[in-house]
Amino acid sequence: MTKNSREILIKKANEMLDYAYVPYSNFPVGAAILSRTGEIFTGCNVENSSYGLSNCAERTAIFKAVSEGSQEFDKMVITGNTDGPISPCGACRQVISEFCAPDMPVILTNVDGNIKETTVGALLPGAFTPEDLKD
Ligand code: THU
Repeated sequence: MTKNSREILIKKANEMLDYAYVPYSNFPVGAAILSRTGEIFTGCNVENSSYGLSNCAERTAIFKAVSEGSQEFDKMVITGNTDGPISPCGACRQVISEFCAPDMPVILTNVDGNIKETTVGALLPGAFTPEDLKD
């Protein structure tokens, strides 16, 4: 993963903020994830008048990727209009942990370009994973 492709992911994640459907929270979130095969999948949050049905940006991106045949990933970027780098919610940390290795880099950023680079394992230590279901 080159620095250049990290910048591409950041750009694409920020572009998703314009597509977010957020009439209830007015809090757009964007995400972009790089597949092992070099494809980028993007996502935004999509809310619903039945609030609990709203889907976060990270899960939109991952569900788009999986439904298009990609299940292995190398890097993810998440962004929002937050004071500092955005913090992904617990549900999204769990879904990211389902598909991404603990050492996979996750770039948390915001519209001002503040960046915090972390990992899947640091975001959700001790995650429940498919391995836990094995005998
Ligand atoms: N949201 C995300 O899209 N990702 C997160 O990790 C945090 C929260 C969305 C859900 C809802 O549409 C809005 O942000 C406010 O919670």
